Amino acid sequence: MADVVAPNLVAAVSELRQWERLMEMAKLGAIPGDGVNRACLTPLDRQARRMFIAWGEALGLTASVDRLGNLFLRHEGSEAGLAPVLTGSHMDSQPKGGRFDGIYGVIAGLEAVQALREAGVATRRPIEVVAWTNEEGGRFAPGCMGSMAYAGFAPPGTWDAIEDTQAVRFGDALAEHLAEEADIARRPLGVVEGPAPHAYVEAHIEQGPILEGRDLDIGVVTGIQGSRWFSVEIHGRSDHAGTTPVSMRQDAMQDAIRAITALNALMRDPSDVLRFTVARMEVFPNSSNSVADLVRFSIDFRHPDRAVVLARGNAIEGVIQSALLHCTAVVHERFTAMPTQFQPLVPDAVERAARAQGLASLRMPSGAFHDAQFMVPLCPTGMIFVPCRDGISHNPAEYSAPDQLAAGTRVLAQVLAELANS
Ligand code: GLV
Ligand code: MN
Ligand code: MN
Repeated sequence: MADVVAPNLVAAVSELRQWERLMEMAKLGAIPGDGVNRACLTPLDRQARRMFIAWGEALGLTASVDRLGNLFLRHEGSEAGLAPVLTGSHMDSQPKGGRFDGIYGVIAGLEAVQALREAGVATRRPIEVVAWTNEEGGRFAPGCMGSMAYAGFAPPGTWDAIEDTQAVRFGDALAEHLAEEADIARRPLGVVEGPAPHAYVEAHIEQGPILEGRDLDIGVVTGIQGSRWFSVEIHGRSDHAGTTPVSMRQDAMQDAIRAITALNALMRDPSDVLRFTVARMEVFPNSSNSVADLVRFSIDFRHPDRAVVLARGNAIEGVIQSALLHCTAVVHERFTAMPTQFQPLVPDAVERAARAQGLASLRMPSGAFHDAQFMVPLCPTGMIFVPCRDGISHNPAEYSAPDQLAAGTRVLAQVLAELANS
C-alpha cells in the first residue's frame, strides 16, 4: 500500500492545524528565546496532557493512563481484538528545551490519526497515540522511565526513590500526578500487564545537522546508538579555605577535576564519533571559603558500537578511582541502553512512503536516545526524522518549519495506515 500515495489521506494532514497545536503547547512552559521548560509530572505537564486529551476526545479518541503515567489516545480499528499500532513520543522538555523535541511526535501522531479519520481510511487495527512519561530525564534521571517500564526493561518501582533538585521523590510525584488524573481510565502497564503492540513508529525532529545539510526531507531511522548514564559522588572533607594547608585537604572539587580530566583521556576519540558529556555538577557546601566536602557530577556517554559502549563504559569507575588523590568516590550507573537496530519492516515502510510522496529521504542512525529503543524487543519499530535548523536541539533555538513537520506527519499517516491494516 505504501508504494502508492494515498492522496486523500496525505491531503487530510493539515500543516496549519498541526503547527497551531504545537504553538499552543509551546505556551505551556514558555521561556525566553522561544524555548520551553516543561518538566515531567508538573502542573504544566498536566495542563499540556489535558489539552492533548481534549483535542483527541473531540475527534472521538479515548484516553487512558497506565501506572507509570504513560498516556494513550486510542483510535478503534474495525476488527476487535487485534493488537494496536503505537505511535507517539514525549511531552516533557529539557530545562532549557525547544518547542519540538518530543511534543512533535505526539502532535504528529494525533494529526495523522485525525487525517485517517477525516479521509475515511479505515484501519483493521486500533492505533494508539502515546505520550511517554519522563523521556528527557531532566527532572528525574534517567530518561525513558515510562517506556522502560512499559517494555518490562525495569520494574515499575525502580525509580521511586530518585529525587529532583527540590528533594521530591519520583514515586511521590508520580502518585500525586496519578491522583490528579484519577478521572482518566486506567490501563494495564505495557507488556508487563498486557499484550505487545503490533508495531511502533515515532516521529521526531532529527536534533542534528545531517538532513538540513543535504537538503533532505525525511530521515529513515535505522537504529539508535548506545547510551550509558552514571552519577558520581566525590566525598572529601570541608575545611577553612584560609587556614588549611592545601597539602592537608581532602578537597572534593580538586579530585572531581582530576577525575573528569582522566575521563576525558579515557573517552578521547580522534574520529569524533564517541560522545562524552559532563553537564551537571553539584558542590557542597557550595561556599567560596569552605573546601568542598562533596561534589556530584553526571556522565552521559554514547557510542554506536556495542564493544566500545561496553569497554569504555566499564572502565569509567576504575579511571575515576585511580584519578583521586585525597577523596573517595561512589559511582552509580543509572541508565544503560545498548546500541539498537530496528528490524527492516518499519524503516522499509517509512522509506516507501517517503518515496511515494516524492520526498527525499536518507537512512540514518539516531544519535539521541528515544523511547523507540525500548520497543525494539516488543514489536517491529521505527522512527521518522524531519530536519531542524542548524541541527540545534536541547536549546530554545530549536526550530523546524511547519512544512518540514507536516512532511514527516504525512509519511507517518501513510505508514500508520499500512501497519494498521497488516
Ligand atoms: C534525549 O533527550 C537524549 O538525550 O538523547
Ligand atoms: Mn525527544
Ligand atoms: Mn530530548
